[in-house]
Amino acid sequence: MIASGKHLLSMVNDILDLSKIEAGRMRLDVETFEVSPVLEVLINTARPLLERNGNRFELVRPAPLGVMASDAMRLRQVLLNLLGNAAKFTERGLVQLGATRVELDGLAALVFRVEDTGIGMTAEQMSRLFNEFTQADSSTTRRFGGTGLGLAISRRLCRLMGGDIKAASVPGQGSTFTVTLLAAIDAGALRDDRQPESSPFSPDLAPSSSIPSCDG
Ligand SMILES: Nc1ncnc2c1ncn2[C@@H]1O[C@H](COP(=O)(O)OP(=O)(O)OP(=O)(O)O)[C@@H](O)[C@H]1O
Ligand SMILES: [Mg+2]
Repeated sequence: MIASGKHLLSMVNDILDLSKIEAGRMRLDVETFEVSPVLEVLINTARPLLERNGNRFELVRPAPLGVMASDAMRLRQVLLNLLGNAAKFTERGLVQLGATRVELDGLAALVFRVEDTGIGMTAEQMSRLFNEFTQADSSTTRRFGGTGLGLAISRRLCRLMGGDIKAASVPGQGSTFTVTLLAAIDAGALRDDRQPESSPFSPDLAPSSSIPSCDG
């Protein structure tokens, strides 16, 4: 009963997020924050989720991540979504969150990589990955629950935050989702009601050209 109530609430929140984004009315709450503590709080609260199905979880953060001027809540939402998927579609395996600070086209950016050793996806499944209300096949809802909105919302949020998500997967071996976000969102661009829908990074870094099969 409590579980189904929670599920309904998160579904309603997803649908509200999606309609706000589609109407061009999603407002980002931009502030300056340290990246590492945001990840640590996220991991601590999500640990039971990350370690379900007998999975092991690892955070890989080889160097200091510094600060971001972005929307910390939306960043958490995107990562939680990807980590939740990784743990849901993996059994007695490894779920990893990697984070690094990089420079892309002279701009500081953060790269978050969510990797699992789970069921993976076929090229056919990958081609529909970021579509709304889309899951791998009709048995997914029955087996794993969910509505198929998480990735559609996550990709749109990343694009609002000056970045994108790309996916790579091998069926039966696992999946990797890579989120690339500008370290600092341009405040000028945010004054506009309609946010840019595409990635500011050069075409060779955008997922549409690197992984054509999962472009949304
Ligand atoms: N890490 C993963 N491993 C294998 N399949 C995945 C993974 N992440 C996503 N998928 C596939 O992509 C589909 C869409 O993912 P998405 O997060 O959008 O929806 P969902 O998790 O099914 O539902 P929701 O996020 O709305 O609760 C999933 O149903 C699943 O088939
Ligand atoms: Mg999901």
